[in-house]
Amino acid sequence: MAVLCGPSANKFIFSNETKRFNPWWPRSVSQALLFAKNPGRNSSVLKEDHSFLKLDSMQKYVPIMDSMAKEHLDTKWAKFDEVKVHPLAKEFTFALACRIFINCANPNRVRDLMVPFFDVAEGIMSAPVNFPGTPFHGAVEGGKIIKHRLLEIIKQRRMEIAEKGVVNLGVQDLLSRLLVSSDEDGKFFSPEEIANKIIGYLIASFYTTSTAITFVLSHLAENPHVYDKVLEEQVEIAKSKGAEKMLRWADVQKMKYTWNVVCESMRLEPPAQGAFKEVLTDFTFAGFNIPKGWKAWAFVSCPEKFIRDRMTKRSSLIFKTCLAAEKMAVLCGPHANKFVFSNDTKLFIPWWPRSITQPLLFPPDNASSIREEDHSFLKLDSMQSHVPIMDSMVEDHLCTHWAHSSEVKVHSISKEFSFALA
Ligand code: HEM
Repeated sequence: MAVLCGPSANKFIFSNETKRFNPWWPRSVSQALLFAKNPGRNSSVLKEDHSFLKLDSMQKYVPIMDSMAKEHLDTKWAKFDEVKVHPLAKEFTFALACRIFINCANPNRVRDLMVPFFDVAEGIMSAPVNFPGTPFHGAVEGGKIIKHRLLEIIKQRRMEIAEKGVVNLGVQDLLSRLLVSSDEDGKFFSPEEIANKIIGYLIASFYTTSTAITFVLSHLAENPHVYDKVLEEQVEIAKSKGAEKMLRWADVQKMKYTWNVVCESMRLEPPAQGAFKEVLTDFTFAGFNIPKGWKAWAFVSCPEKFIRDRMTKRSSLIFKTCLAAEKMAVLCGPHANKFVFSNDTKLFIPWWPRSITQPLLFPPDNASSIREEDHSFLKLDSMQSHVPIMDSMVEDHLCTHWAHSSEVKVHSISKEFSFALA
């Protein structure tokens, strides 16, 4: 896996979509969700995705979103002094997704999908160990239930469309759109393809949106002056609506300050950690050659930020961790290096992890005993006497291993040479 980080890497990946990259999911995802194979780029399905996700399609759902948000806040928030935001945000987002994707508003039916779906969401990015009790096993079982229930819903809707002949073209859900759409050859999508598509949508929309909501609220709670300004903007919009109760797209467009807060919150805590891709052709990025067939991960959170954050919690020079089954102080950067190397033998003695001493049958405490002899052997005036031997061996090595080949594997051949010289 090549992990590409930061804005320029993201730009490179997303502007080379279909040319250099295809969407790809780890086996743990496709296996748990019973996707036959990785999605690839099915242009007709994609066209349908993109037309559904377009702003002029999405804005029709604003009144539904508004009424569901109001009901959710009245029943699950308003009565309580304290609430747990993330579980509630997940519940709300999932119910909203069911309403918009498959027009399911019945709370019991939503729950029938939500319980197995949460198992799927918990387990799809875990180690693919399918054994009762593992998160992955939960995801596989949840995936089967969801698929089965969605196929029933699809069958039912298909019959309704066949009987009524017309689909409501006002605020159409995703399911109806997929049922009446065909590919370039006029072929309709199979129930299996539609179920996969809806599961993909549930995964794509549910975790991202509920995470974004949770972080926005957390940032508002931490920044009361920002909260006051958001409240002021929202109250003003509510007042301006007069008798008309439901929010419309035009109202959402007035939420400029609120939207900035959401964007800033998503910048600080990206709700999606990135996107997986399959590499279609060899490419070079930032001096690294990535061959065709590798997987690429467009990593949204820049790891530099992560590492810096991790360090600042402790110090930029040192942090404590556990490595090679030992308590370990990790000292970083030029100052720390100077400190370690100028205090050699006073504060530090050489040490090797057991993974090295054991296979080499070194006694655990021999590292420092031969140091004096080391230093005299390694000194420049000792080393320079070996230059003619090095030269003759290099010449011999190049003549036999390099000169007659049009292509060589440098690393393996250099290892061979260095070992022979040693
Ligand atoms: C804060 C909310 C969201 C964030 C941060 C987010 C982020 C992302 C990211 C990073 C990708 C990967 C793009 C790629 O691999 O090319 C993606 C893909 C996708 N998302 Fe979202 N998303 C959000 C909400 C939603 C919602 C609400 C929906 C559906 C209503 C949705 C539907 C999709 C779909 C269908 C794809 C695949 C598109 C394709 O392959 O062209 N997402 N999203």
